Parts: sequence; C-alpha cells; structure tokens
Amino acid sequence: MKKMLLGTTALAVASLMALSGCSSRTGTEGGAGGAEAGFAADSLIGVALPSKTSENWVLAGQLFEDGLSEAGFEGDVQYAGASTTVKDQQDQISAMVTKGAKVIIIGAADGGQLATQVSAAKDSGAIVIAYDRLILDTEDVDYYVAYDNFKVGELQGQALLDGMKAKKPEGPYNIELFSGASTDANSAVFFNGAMSVLQPEIDSGNVVVLSGQTDIKQTATADWKAENAQSRMDSLLTSTYGGSGVELDGVLSPNDTLARAIITSVKAAGKPIPIVTGQDSEVESVKSIMAGEQYSTINKDTRNLVTEAISMVSTLQAGDTPEINDDETYDNGVKIVPAYLLDPVIVTKENAAEAYKDDPTLEPLTQQ
Ligand code: GAL
Repeated sequence: MKKMLLGTTALAVASLMALSGCSSRTGTEGGAGGAEAGFAADSLIGVALPSKTSENWVLAGQLFEDGLSEAGFEGDVQYAGASTTVKDQQDQISAMVTKGAKVIIIGAADGGQLATQVSAAKDSGAIVIAYDRLILDTEDVDYYVAYDNFKVGELQGQALLDGMKAKKPEGPYNIELFSGASTDANSAVFFNGAMSVLQPEIDSGNVVVLSGQTDIKQTATADWKAENAQSRMDSLLTSTYGGSGVELDGVLSPNDTLARAIITSVKAAGKPIPIVTGQDSEVESVKSIMAGEQYSTINKDTRNLVTEAISMVSTLQAGDTPEINDDETYDNGVKIVPAYLLDPVIVTKENAAEAYKDDPTLEPLTQQ
C-alpha cells in the first residue's frame, strides 16, 4: 500500500511538473514515477563501473565499497576489464540482477549497449541509476547522477579561449580539437558544450581549426586511451604544423589523461606547449598545471558524486523519492532521465589552491 501511494505521488509530481513546464533546476523534488520504493536496509546494491580509463574511475570503486558498507548495504562493486569491456559489464549487470540487487548503479562502458541488461534489472524490480555517464536508448533507467557535463564542455571551451588570449592578446588562434571515446555518452556532451563556446569564434575567423578536423568522428579518441591521442597529435603536427611560423595556439582536450599525452607529443616534436585544457583533476595534471604546462582542468570531486549516488540509494531504501534538480536536459533517446547534477569547477594555476582546499591529496600540490 505504501509502495502504491509513493508511486502515485511520484507520478503526480512528475505529471504536474510536465504540465506546468516547470524546470527543476531550482531544486524541485521529483523522480522516476513508478520506481519500486522501499527495501531492506541491508540489501545488495550493485555498482557496475567501466574500465579504469582515468583516476576518477579508480577512486570511485573504493569510495562505493566504503560508502555502501558504511550506509549498511551490501555492496557489489565491479569494474569492466580493459579489453572485453562491454561484454564484461553486461555480464556483471546480469549477475547483479540474478543475485537480487535492489539498486544497480551503472557507470556505462558503452551507454548504448545496456538496454537488455537494464530491462532485466527493471523486470526483477531493481532501480537503475546511471552514474556519471548516461545510459542511452532505453526506458529502463530511473535516475541519472552526474556532474553537469555540458557545463564541463562550456568551461573547457572558455578556458581554451581565455588561456590563448592571456598568452597572445590578438587572434587569430590556431587550435585542434580532441574528444573522448565515442562509446561514452559523455564525449558528445563535453564536445558540444565546448563547441557552443568555440563555434562563434570559429565562424568569425578568430579561431581556426587548421587541420579542418572539426567533426566528432575525426576528433574522437578510441577507449579514452592516451596512446591514441598522442599518435593523433603526432600526425597533426606533421601534417599541419610542420612549416616554419605555423603556430599551434591551443588544443581542446576532454580530459587530463589525453591532455598529458598531447603535451608529450608536442614536446617530442620540439614545439612550444600550446594552451591545453583537461578534466578530472588527476594528480599528474595538477602538477603539470602548477608547473605551467597544462593550462586547465576541471574539478568534479568524485567523493561528492559517489556520496550523492549513495544518498539516492538510502532515500530509495526508506521508500522516498530521491531529489532531482534537472528534468529537461538528459534525453537518452527514449526519455528524459530525471537527473541530479552537480556543479563542475574550472581550475587553472590561479585558483588551484582555492579549488582543492578541501582535498587532502591535491591541496599540498598547489603550495608553491
Ligand atoms: C567520462 C568522465 C570523465 C572522464 C572520462 C574518461 O565519462 O565523465 O570524467 O573520466 O570518462 O574516463
């Protein structure tokens, strides 16, 4: 009875919001209507993470293990392997369903290839939460918890422009564009966010992508692997920046691992380091920023994102509807997934000390 009522309330809230065209950016409560609510306090909670393509994913696993057990749940945290990533993750999710997980939190290896598994999860009564990366083309995802990834892209695009202007007040500026793995639903979101800032500058001629490679298919970096970004940068330097006097002013890099690979390539070619953006606040990149090499990164504190995901689980366990703050942005092709978005922060050498003041690992690196 309690379940029914809660389901109905959630539905009523959702339809009221839909009717009034109400944006929940202001913090409106709402949720996935009809999701099963309320389960035993020591239930099994599955966490399926992609392979360890960046430090944030390495961190997330341990944080989920610790946080779920502190909250009284039995956590089952799995990573997809490096080579058979998609198949691994599909099998891991299926196993979690078989074991009776009440909530399955998924950082998708390939957001477009999980429809069968999440459908089975829903059939078993589990609640599905997409973590960091959206799950595409399915009705069967209840919530999305992530940093605002479009904003990440906007911040990267703006940092690229700011960095180039600070170094050389007058354009035009020559840049190259990199994006992440095409299997990661975030890659296009980061890229589109960045292009929303860069495109007007490209249109006006103030910014020039000298190689002409502006299509996301050309800029993609398979598997988010450093070596793939490095070899593409090597080729671009040879094909486009070989001539004397042809300067590369900036590179849009979607994350830190790729930023460092791009910088390695430029250094090996004996060229001056351009303005290079990043994301994830990886230790080596924060060092590089403090040393004046990489220009920027993004702070998306993994601790806060994991905490938010676990608090959603606790809310669901209590039979309540998790708070969402966005019900209009994250369209997965079949539905708009109710989301709780956290705010990403741009970090350069200038604000690093402030940005990492609560981070015991990164804060000491900013003391120079
Ligand atoms: C994304 C994530 C980024 C970065 C990237 C590479 O989905 O949002 O922060 O880690 O994966 O693993």
